[in-house]
Amino acid sequence: MDAGRLSAPEVEQILRFQRERGLRFGESGRALGLLTEDDVRFALSLQFDYPYLAPESELSHELVAAFRPQDQTVEQLRSLRSQLMLRWFSIGTGHKGLTIVSPDTREGRSYLAANLAIVFSQMGERTLVVDADMRAPRQHLLFGLGQRSGLSDVLAGRADPLSMIADIPDLKDLAVLPAGTIPPNPQELLGRPAFSTLLEALGETFSVMIIDTPPAGACADAQTVAAHAGAALLVARQGTSSMPRVARLSQRLREFGVSLVGSVLNDT
Ligand SMILES: Nc1ncnc2c1ncn2[C@@H]1O[C@H](COP(=O)(O)OP(=O)(O)O)[C@@H](O)[C@H]1O
Ligand SMILES: [Mg+2]
Repeated sequence: MDAGRLSAPEVEQILRFQRERGLRFGESGRALGLLTEDDVRFALSLQFDYPYLAPESELSHELVAAFRPQDQTVEQLRSLRSQLMLRWFSIGTGHKGLTIVSPDTREGRSYLAANLAIVFSQMGERTLVVDADMRAPRQHLLFGLGQRSGLSDVLAGRADPLSMIADIPDLKDLAVLPAGTIPPNPQELLGRPAFSTLLEALGETFSVMIIDTPPAGACADAQTVAAHAGAALLVARQGTSSMPRVARLSQRLREFGVSLVGSVLNDT
């Protein structure tokens, strides 16, 4: 009723039917044609405190983990989360930032960063998405934030980090630090010690930080970010990524002292 999906008389009707047939509330609502399967899922997500977005939400539908938590893709994301809990999360302090890297464009870094962050937040971990792709930023679009200041402005010393972080009201425990004003010198900004200091400070507030980056084959930004964060997850896309380029990136990250916690084959 609070969500405007049922009126009081409809609720009465469902309750009566429920008593007569010995059904659950959702089942009787569906049998009467007063509730859709989506309505029932929505209600369950509220009852179990599990963030879930209604189809009319303004956030991007690329956020499958929030729109369709029952999809096979999201099941795989949860399984990735479990592996990361063992291999990365449990390493302890100093490794709260996980950099998502891949050699080329359109391999699924931004998609994975956003959705992986959502599944971590659904577990009740206070999670931050940091958009360190200052060349073609996308996280602000995925999370419906509009153009706004962000990481570049913080690193340039023109903004206070906490005021740049946007909570996503529909997704409890998730916040986003957008890339901000597109600067002429991303590489220099990201290379500043201020970035390490910032990640350390944010680590006090967030238990998981997932960092999106530009293609590592085109510029050194991603390696720089990964070196600051300490840990990286390598993404390759089936039928698109070049294996020698992936292997070279993996080699370079190791040389930079980055702990490579795993790799993901994006097969969609
Ligand atoms: N596993 C996936 N399932 C569905 N769509 C995907 C998947 N991975 C990537 N995409 C889509 O492919 C496009 C490129 O992905 P994106 O994450 O923006 O790439 P990158 O950040 O590596 O350049 C986007 O439209 C994204 O929604
Ligand atoms: Mg991207």
